[in-house]
Amino acid sequence: MSWFEWREAPEGEYAVIGDPVSHSASPRMHAAIYRELGLDWRYRAVRVPAGEVGAALGRLRELGYRGVNATVPLKEEVFVWCRETEGIAGWVGAVNTVDLDSGRGVNTDAPGFLRTLEAFGVEPGATVLVLGAGGTARALIPAMREAGYRLRAWNRTKSKMLDLAAEFAPDMMVLDEIDPAGCEVVLNTTSASLGGEGLAVDWSRSPEAVLAYDMMYGEEPTAFLRGAAAAERRGVDGSQMLVEQGALSFEWWTGKPAPREAMLRAVHERTESHSGSD
Ligand code: ATR
Repeated sequence: MSWFEWREAPEGEYAVIGDPVSHSASPRMHAAIYRELGLDWRYRAVRVPAGEVGAALGRLRELGYRGVNATVPLKEEVFVWCRETEGIAGWVGAVNTVDLDSGRGVNTDAPGFLRTLEAFGVEPGATVLVLGAGGTARALIPAMREAGYRLRAWNRTKSKMLDLAAEFAPDMMVLDEIDPAGCEVVLNTTSASLGGEGLAVDWSRSPEAVLAYDMMYGEEPTAFLRGAAAAERRGVDGSQMLVEQGALSFEWWTGKPAPREAMLRAVHERTESHSGSD
């Protein structure tokens, strides 16, 4: 899949911006939507270095683009660019979906993630153990708390998780060791899987119906999901959330229902390891 520097971007209707952007699954996912719905639209991958969001979005608007998705490291800068934001974007200070005409922005990452939990029968009130305190955890912790999930958390560098708890979830229990006892979900937001590393989870301590959820996805199950499977625990990877956040973006832009199965097939066409928040 080709990508463009923003100054050299051709005309189009929608785009994902990020740096790097070449890994993004969004172009093939949205192309699959357009094919399925018979829309004659183009969705481009456009590299925008940090600090150039304002100029780049102005240029894309001139070229006729209607909206963009933002990925790492631009979600916070895009939030600042937006004239107005809706929903959770305001409190996490990050936007992944923009309407260029109105300057409005939303964040579909956390809502997309919450939908996947419900699709696996994990309802608000359930206890989720969050592993990792990076950007992904920062978006999901406040969203889960607001939705009514009970939270426990662990991070390799404990002080970072204590900071997140102080900011977003003062009642979240921060553990010294990963202990899945009493948890309906163990959610891996760390990038350990990218390096092929597992985490020391003793699955024998978890309920049998626990859901092992890795935000990463790739061609093979991650080390984290292999560990869960070896203990006969069910697992899900980040591709479901990736599809759901993309589907919610498309629906927010157009009001048309997104064809999720075609999108998931498109994600799995090429499967280098990546995260569900794109
Ligand atoms: P993202 O934005 O994708 O969440 P990030 O902000 O780079 O990524 O955060 C990476 C997270 O993965 C951090 O919580 C990091 O732990 P530290 O805070 O201790 O650095 C965690 N992480 C990365 N590699 C890890 C590993 N091998 N084992 C455990 N945690 C790891």
